[in-house]
Amino acid sequence: MSIEITSLLSSFKKELANCNSNNDLMKIKSNYLGKKGLLTELFSQMKNLELDEKKTKGALLNQTKISIESLLNAKSKELDSFNSTDNEIDISLPARGYTIGSHHPITITINEITNILNKYGFSISDGPEIEDDYYNFEALNIPKNHPARDMHDTFYINNEKLLRTHTSSVQIRSMLEQSPPLRIMTPGKVYRCDSDPTHSPMFHQIEGLSVEKNINFCHLKGFLTEFIKEFFDDKKIEIRFRPSYFPFTEPSAEIDIQFKNKWLEVLGCGMVHPNVLRNVKIDHKIFSGFAFGLGIERFAMLKYGISDLREFFENDLSFLSQFESIR
Ligand code: FA5
Ligand code: MG
Repeated sequence: MSIEITSLLSSFKKELANCNSNNDLMKIKSNYLGKKGLLTELFSQMKNLELDEKKTKGALLNQTKISIESLLNAKSKELDSFNSTDNEIDISLPARGYTIGSHHPITITINEITNILNKYGFSISDGPEIEDDYYNFEALNIPKNHPARDMHDTFYINNEKLLRTHTSSVQIRSMLEQSPPLRIMTPGKVYRCDSDPTHSPMFHQIEGLSVEKNINFCHLKGFLTEFIKEFFDDKKIEIRFRPSYFPFTEPSAEIDIQFKNKWLEVLGCGMVHPNVLRNVKIDHKIFSGFAFGLGIERFAMLKYGISDLREFFENDLSFLSQFESIR
């Protein structure tokens, strides 16, 4: 039995030397001192021994137990102190790198446009993207079955609800909330079932609406021309007003700008139709107004020379990081 006790102590020491964690230490402890542990087992064999053997082996076992316990204690302290130095900050390590984000080109363009419009007295108003048929169409002089609805490639949710196809819906909401004179702008997302290099199914518009006394088409034309020159920082920029049709404006026009030797349409505009003013209980004999809805992606395309506006939504970092320097 004495040999067993000495070899038990030496295998314990080996295991202890290889132990690197508190978890393993607990296992070793229970392996030797636990209820079914190896040392406990030797203690239980004592009852089978002769009296004088009991004395010597008993003393040896007790001594071994004391050694094992004190070695376990020492190891536990060693592990604790090792772990605590482990948690200290190693100031010799190189710092973790971080990258600075930047604004999305569409956000940059929205900020630039709204800053200019703000100087002309337009203040921001807002409306929902899931819109009632009434605000998106009916109140804008586009009743059900009107052929102009085909121009919009609408995503319908049900008979009454749809994803707004333009920000013009906010014209109605604003005129119901505020009385004239008023000057509002609405930047936001709009949706149409459409996709090619100059169309995407989700895109952004900014609506502008100015309702006052004695506003006429000259104000609209002069203002939009100045606004475009300021946005592109180009006094000689070539633009054209093209006669157009919207049920909610009369007369109506669209503006095109030269892009890669072709005309690219950037916005629709016109004088608010008397029927629309009637729908929001504004007296069209006293007040008149102009309105426009511009495509933000188109403005950004022209400013940054991008041929396919779908790139704005692909989230390719090498594309987006080109706009880092613009804040
Ligand atoms: C309208 O949406 C009218 N609500 C504009 C308006 C407002 C007219 C107020 C009169 C008074 P239009 O469908 O043409 O019009 O769209 C306006 C602009 O949005 C276009 O000139 C174009 O710049 C942009 N646009 C239209 N469809 C898309 C699309 N699928 N992807 C990206 N831009 C688009
Ligand atoms: Mg158009």
